[in-house]
Amino acid sequence: GLPARVTVYEVGARDGLQNEKATVPTAVKAQFIDRLAEAGATVVEATSFVHPKWVPQLADAEDLFTGLRRRDGVRYPVLVPNPRGYERALACGAREIAVFASATETFARRNLNTSVEGALAEIEAVVARARAAGLWVRGYVSMCFGDPWQGPVDPAAVAAVVERLLSAGCQEISLGDTIGTATPGHVRALIDTLGSRGVDPARLAVHFHDTYGQALANTLAALLAGITTVDASAGGLGGCPFAKSATGNLATEDLVWMLDGLGVYTGIDLPALVETSRWMAGHLGRPAPSRAVQALTKD
Ligand code: HMG
Ligand code: MG
Repeated sequence: GLPARVTVYEVGARDGLQNEKATVPTAVKAQFIDRLAEAGATVVEATSFVHPKWVPQLADAEDLFTGLRRRDGVRYPVLVPNPRGYERALACGAREIAVFASATETFARRNLNTSVEGALAEIEAVVARARAAGLWVRGYVSMCFGDPWQGPVDPAAVAAVVERLLSAGCQEISLGDTIGTATPGHVRALIDTLGSRGVDPARLAVHFHDTYGQALANTLAALLAGITTVDASAGGLGGCPFAKSATGNLATEDLVWMLDGLGVYTGIDLPALVETSRWMAGHLGRPAPSRAVQALTKD
C-alpha cells in the first residue's frame, strides 16, 4: 500500500537552476530557497560545490550558502563531486552533503571526467571524511534506467553502485532517472532487485526527470514498492547540462497535487509553492514547466 507520509527532497535550487540559461542573482536564489522552506519543504538542496567552469550557474555557492537563512527543522544539503568540493562545502558550514556517482561509464566521463570506478574512489574518500565529521550523506546514482549513449541500463549494474555507496557510508541513496526514460515496470523491477539484494527501501529515494511524461507514474510505482522519499523540483525546473536530452525534474507541485489527492501527507502548502514557482518564473523569463503550476496560476 501507500505510505502515510512522504518526504519531499526539493532540488529546484540545485538541479533546477544548474540548467537555466539565465544567471540568477545570489539574493534571488537565497530567497527562492527560503520560500521553499516557508512553503513546507523540510529538505532543500541548496547548491553545488562543483567546478565553477563546469556549472557557472552555481559558481556563487560560497556566497549563497554562507548567507543562507537556516530554518529550524529544515535540512540544506549541497552537492559535492570530490574532495576539493567537500573542503569548500565544509568551510561554508555544510552539515549535509550529496555525492554523485553514475551507473554508466559514458556519463561518469561526461559528468565527472572520470570512470565509474574513479568516481567511486573519490566518493569513498569524501564519505569517510564526512561521516567521521558527523555529516549526513546522500549518494546519487545517475542513469539508473536509461543512458543517452548506452541505452537501457541493467539493474545489476545499478545495484553494484548502490551497494558501493552504502558500504562507503551513505545514509540515503537516490536513484536517478537522469534523462527521464524510465517507465513504472522498470522502476518496480529495480527497487525489487535492490530489495532482493538486501537494500531496505527506507534507505532509497527516487529522482525522476519528466522528459517522457512518466515521472508521476514512476513515483506512484516507487511508493507502492516501499519508497518514502521523493525528489522533486519546484515548478518542474531542472536537467543536467552533461546529459544529452535531459529535461526538467518531476515538478513538486504536480507531486503534491497527486499526494494531496491520495491523502498522503507532505507538509507542503501547495498555493504557497505555486506562488513561489510563479515568482521564480518571472526571474527566469519563462513559464514554469509544471502542469499544476500552470493550472493553478490565474494571471
Ligand atoms: P576535472 O577537470 O577532472 O578536475 O573536473 P581535476 O580534479 O582534474 O582538477 C582540475 C582543477 O579543478 C584543479 O585546479 C582543481 O583544484 C579544480 P588547478 O589545480 O588546475 O588550479 N577543482 C575544483 N575547483 C572547485 N571545486 C571543485 C573542484 N574540483 C577540482 N569541486 C570535476 C572534475 C568533478 C571537478 C568536474 O567534472 C565537475 O565539476 N563536474 C560537475 C558536473 C555537475 O555538476 N553535474 C551536474 C550535477 S549531477 C546531476 O545533475 C545528476 C543528479 O541530478 C541526479 C540525476 O538526475 O541523475 C544529481
Ligand atoms: Mg537530476
